[in-house]
Amino acid sequence: MSGLQWGGRFAAAPDAALLAFGSSLADDLVLAPFDVRCSRAHVAALGPVLSAGDAAALRAALDLVAAEIDDGSFAAWATTHGFEDVHGAIDARVRDHAGVAGERLHAGRSRNDQVATTLLLYARDRAVRGARIALDVAAAMEDRAESALERRTLLAATTHWQPAQPVLLAFWLDAAAQSFVRAAERFARVASDAARFCPLGSAALAGSSLPLDRAAAAHELGFAAPTRNALDSVGDRDVALDLLHAAMRAAVAASRPSEELVIWATPAFGYVRLDDAASTGSSLMPQKRNPDPFELVRAAGARAIGAYAGALASTNGIALSYHRDLQETKFQVIHGTEAALTALDAFRRAFAHVHFIDHAMTARAGDGYTVATDLADAVILAGATARDAHRAVGERVLLAEEHGRPLDPSDAAALDVPSAPVDPLGSVLGKRTAGSTHPDAVAASLAATREAITGLSESFL
Ligand code: ARG
Repeated sequence: MSGLQWGGRFAAAPDAALLAFGSSLADDLVLAPFDVRCSRAHVAALGPVLSAGDAAALRAALDLVAAEIDDGSFAAWATTHGFEDVHGAIDARVRDHAGVAGERLHAGRSRNDQVATTLLLYARDRAVRGARIALDVAAAMEDRAESALERRTLLAATTHWQPAQPVLLAFWLDAAAQSFVRAAERFARVASDAARFCPLGSAALAGSSLPLDRAAAAHELGFAAPTRNALDSVGDRDVALDLLHAAMRAAVAASRPSEELVIWATPAFGYVRLDDAASTGSSLMPQKRNPDPFELVRAAGARAIGAYAGALASTNGIALSYHRDLQETKFQVIHGTEAALTALDAFRRAFAHVHFIDHAMTARAGDGYTVATDLADAVILAGATARDAHRAVGERVLLAEEHGRPLDPSDAAALDVPSAPVDPLGSVLGKRTAGSTHPDAVAASLAATREAITGLSESFL
């Protein structure tokens, strides 16, 4: 390794395998553009500590490194040289480009400050990305919901996967959209927390005896103010953990409708068809069409959950300030977040390839006696107690089941509620409560969700 940032007090070279064990470069290269921004801000903070010439040389060198990051050559160079982390690699590259001026960049700063600050910039960037995808998904679901509402497509909604009550497909789509909107809101809170306090200038843990202009650095990086306690700043990973938490929750939000889409794509259901673009075949069975993207998204939450547990656990029990354990936290945060956002984006893409087969859904919306609750409600409205109504309708279900027929007007008549709905659409139109599957309630929810999506997009993205 040529990239050591220390050495004066060491008499022997480090063990190569241990040095490699300690390297996070492969995992933290993703932080490179954020470190360049931090390094620029640090040049500003150094102010009078640097001559104007040295400051200009450092800025020019940082511009070169930024260009190398963009074109991929920095990653290739850093990887072949071997560094402990991206921060050391950038510092070394600046020294290559700026000569002696490059040796002045690290005055009054520690990688501890750089890790903490770059993670906040990363959190802002990924939170915006996550919110954007989540809102795109929510908007796509609302679009589908609007047309499904017009077509009055029906669906036997389930609990325990057993037929429960008829609903509008639009109601299901709007339900799925809600959790994506909440995911976007969570990302928005992370982005705003990540713009509050800037750790740069913590100088390892105690602050600096150099006259660093921390406020200038904070403002250049879009923070409201410098952090108030250097010892806390270098060991605080709260926002990074919140980012991973938000990403994990978004992945979990995507996993749940994925489960239904996987089942609905089976011939036994036949409620949806996936385009070829979102399906895969079998290497052996010629007839197969598998909904792999949704199965992978269904599973992706698990990786994010594991990463979140690992990240949080790596901070448990470590003393205040920076300890090397936090390199593991960084690894988990980056890996978990990247994986969750990739899955979220895969869901967005795959969902565009879903076609709902209206007639198949609608035709089976009454299967499994899904109108039984409406009949019971009608019996209650006619004066019966809930228990009596439940029993009486249950007996009609048993009878119908014995005859192998659905509930029909003869059951409504036998229960003395002849005008009660015994068809799925009648059930849906009979709902009266706010938030119900009645078309008017669904339309109201769609409009409110649209407003939330627009509001978030405007205020945040
Ligand atoms: N490589 C470490 C990380 O990425 C930073 C090292 C910070 N400080 C130290 N003295 N080892 O978390």
